[in-house]
Amino acid sequence: MTKEAETAVDAARLVEHIDTLDMPWVGGAEGSVTGKPLSHGIETKKLRVDPDTAEQSLLYTAQPQHGPPGIMKGKLGHPMIEEIFTLSGTYVFADAGMMGPGGYCWWRENEFHGPAGSLTGYNLFIRVVGGPLRNIFSDEPFPFTFTPKHNPSLPDDFKPYGQPYPYPAEY
Ligand SMILES: [Fe+2]
Repeated sequence: MTKEAETAVDAARLVEHIDTLDMPWVGGAEGSVTGKPLSHGIETKKLRVDPDTAEQSLLYTAQPQHGPPGIMKGKLGHPMIEEIFTLSGTYVFADAGMMGPGGYCWWRENEFHGPAGSLTGYNLFIRVVGGPLRNIFSDEPFPFTFTPKHNPSLPDDFKPYGQPYPYPAEY
């Protein structure tokens, strides 16, 4: 392999440094990662959209005091992998528990989760792997609560690390 070939990059797929403080939050259809307009109070900063696969990395924020949107009567899933890092605030999944700053979760394709909401609002870093994000909403109702039981789905050797969020007094 020539030196040129070793160092060649596809400029369209190059991940460059981004100063997220210089980026505006974007709502509505323009800020959406699914092609459908975002709900009121939700905005994104798109950090990377792969030109070939439409995989995405983004910041995702929501205002406080919201339960699941009307379309989320039960769980939702995606036909691609979704990975969430909680940067600030808290995010509740009624089936799995509450995430706080440093909280992390991911789902394989079509693993259903939720419904979701937040009393404090949140700022998330989300990565979508395996194609553009698409939502599939279950028709089967699942009860929502802001104080769910800590119930993550973890392999045995990860279970010691999956502790409940320790500051529920924020509520
Ligand atoms: Fe999801």
